[in-house]
Amino acid sequence: MTDTPRPTSSAKLWGGRFSEATAASVEKFTASIHYDARLYRHDIAGSMAHARMLARQGLISDEECAAIIGGLEEIGREIAGNTFVFRPELEDIHMNIEKALTEKIGPAGEKLHTGRSRNDQVALDLRLYLRDEGKAVDTLLAAAQKGFVRLARRYLGTVMPGYTHLQRAQPVLLSHHLLAYFEMLDRDRGRMADCLERLCVMPLGAAALAGTGLPIDREFVARELGFSTITANSMDTVGDRDFALEFLFCCTVIQLHLSRLAEELVLWSSKEFEFVRIGDRYCTGSSIMPQKKNPDIPELIRGKAGRVTGSLMSLLMTVKGLPLTYNRDLQEDKEPIFDALDTVQASLSIMAELLDNLTFNTEKMQAATLGGFMTATDLADYLVRKNMPFRQAHGVVGRIVALCQQRGVELVDLKLDELRTFSKLIEADIYQVLSIAGSVNSRVSAGGTAEVRVAEALDRAEQQLGIS
Ligand code: ARG
Repeated sequence: MTDTPRPTSSAKLWGGRFSEATAASVEKFTASIHYDARLYRHDIAGSMAHARMLARQGLISDEECAAIIGGLEEIGREIAGNTFVFRPELEDIHMNIEKALTEKIGPAGEKLHTGRSRNDQVALDLRLYLRDEGKAVDTLLAAAQKGFVRLARRYLGTVMPGYTHLQRAQPVLLSHHLLAYFEMLDRDRGRMADCLERLCVMPLGAAALAGTGLPIDREFVARELGFSTITANSMDTVGDRDFALEFLFCCTVIQLHLSRLAEELVLWSSKEFEFVRIGDRYCTGSSIMPQKKNPDIPELIRGKAGRVTGSLMSLLMTVKGLPLTYNRDLQEDKEPIFDALDTVQASLSIMAELLDNLTFNTEKMQAATLGGFMTATDLADYLVRKNMPFRQAHGVVGRIVALCQQRGVELVDLKLDELRTFSKLIEADIYQVLSIAGSVNSRVSAGGTAEVRVAEALDRAEQQLGIS
């Protein structure tokens, strides 16, 4: 009797207990190497720290450690130089690298996985990866913030209608509107920083789920990799993906903020508004209508909000209902993360370019403040200052607006005598109050749109971003 050949399974790092080769369909279905190869740098960094720890603890010799480090460096160069051959039958990045290492350096390579499991290994790789990418996102957010601040500086003094319900509400400074986005992105940066702080906890050493009996030193690995703490519970460590969910949530909010801006740019660049002109280099044409110039970039940024939100939803659903600890479902965490990151980074960087290619139509914006009774609240506040209860003032001004509407005129068009038929408290100084500049500059409350407040906010923003 001859031995049944075991061609593929024996090549597997976990092949020992199997007597049949894995079905090709299974290899195809379970493989993640086509996307998790992205983690190779972090996988190698984690393995190097792990190997150093093993040597320090006497679990491998210094020579073995040196061979491992040298082999991993070489593999890193091969992957970077596109000469590394990835093997789908080795499932993922972890086993592709480990197998290649053993083929390169022999038995020392087989010692690398001592006291470690792919379950804690992948938790480490992902955290290392997100730590780097989170910082990259922060840099892009700061660049976009600078774009807003530059525009706010350039257009300081320009008035425009501020909207609620997309109805003209009260006049504001364009710079105030732009700095609202500075604030949103500032919170996005803070949110990401918080996420990274919770995420930067070293998971290696949880092993498969229960820890290990081998004398490892987790604190050492943490220090090697620049983490200040280690995870507390081995079962939580390999089962947890909160950090990835939180990261995806941060990405989603960023994309939603960009999407809101995108929506405004689409509206504002339309003939109906004509508030802004997007530079030709950042627009596209129509294949049938020769006159068209379309705001495709903001539209796509807005469209991609669905995609990033979908990634968050996808991982939320993957995690829901998983029993402790690691389950293969968790392999589904990577694609949404990669896709969300690609999308958010591309959107942030093109949006920053777009901001530098906007020209606001200040006359059009100014003109739009003149219709729509936008200083009605100022008139009510004027009466309040003369001691009329606000609710009464609201009623009085409402009746004045109704009269204006009936006649098709604006508040400033009414004669003083006419205004006084509604309230004797109204005097000649009302016209200054009803002017757009008067209205804007009266809003001096902290965080308000008065030019003094906006100029202060702008100074603070510039200082924070290191713009002089
Ligand atoms: N590729 C796997 C993942 O991304 C690595 C961990 C596999 N662990 C296991 N026990 N099969 O989740």
